[in-house]
Amino acid sequence: MSADLIDGKAFAAALRGRIATAVAAMKADHSVTPGLAVVLVGEDPASSVYVRSKGKATVEVGMESFEHRLPPETSQDDLLALVARLNGDAKVNGILVQLPLPKHMDEAAVINAIAPEKDVDGFTVLNAGRLATGQKAMVPCTPLGCLMLLRDRLGSLAGKDALVIGRSNIVGKPMAQLLLADSATVTVAHSRTEDLPDLCRRADIVVAAVGRARFVQGDWIKPGATVIDVGINRTEDGLVGDVDFESVRQVAGAITPVPGGVGPMTIACLLANTLTATARVN
Ligand code: GUN
Repeated sequence: MSADLIDGKAFAAALRGRIATAVAAMKADHSVTPGLAVVLVGEDPASSVYVRSKGKATVEVGMESFEHRLPPETSQDDLLALVARLNGDAKVNGILVQLPLPKHMDEAAVINAIAPEKDVDGFTVLNAGRLATGQKAMVPCTPLGCLMLLRDRLGSLAGKDALVIGRSNIVGKPMAQLLLADSATVTVAHSRTEDLPDLCRRADIVVAAVGRARFVQGDWIKPGATVIDVGINRTEDGLVGDVDFESVRQVAGAITPVPGGVGPMTIACLLANTLTATARVN
């Protein structure tokens, strides 16, 4: 048996198409163009590529993109001043500060300076708290994209046994909250978890977000399980996920490929959040 491939690339393209239609209507009916500001501090090559793709995708759906590239030695006060200016700019509906920030910055202080209604990453404590307490929240893009793919594949997630591997603020924790809100039975595993293979063998849904190339093995997977691979690891063989694709696809019911799975969903969800943020104020 070989797992079905979950085509995140096609799903994301369809979502971007619907967003483009909504943006065109917003322009025609309300003379409003959604605007997304992306801030990059420093010259990390991977971050630079992400920021460029975000800007390109923003323009492609008809939104306005404001890109701010600051030198690595930028002071935290200067960055906070930029965030404050973007918070007050009516043309800016969404603000994303690309992480990681240089070591001399207090990441939490910078993120929490973003106005919650413009926090399209959903990283502020207010949005994280809203998500955790079941209130309307801006939801982090990568887990939101994973949730859309899971719902599309499985329909209701109620009662499913879900294992999230990884406990980051960006993916693992919000992913667990979203699955819980959909009434899955959720386990969060991490580097100190004991008997991970056994935990994994119980799971109907596995979301791997550990940042270790080909970590999840085929003999850990319950036959028919749905496997979502969030990993993007650069190796000598090119980009690979956190899941050992060749062994897992023999056992799983469905799996996201890397590339072409979760990655494209992250950017599409960023645009969806920007549209939501714009609609709430106009
Ligand atoms: N760095 C890695 N992923 C992300 C993300 O989703 N948002 C931001 N702001 N930085 C990141």
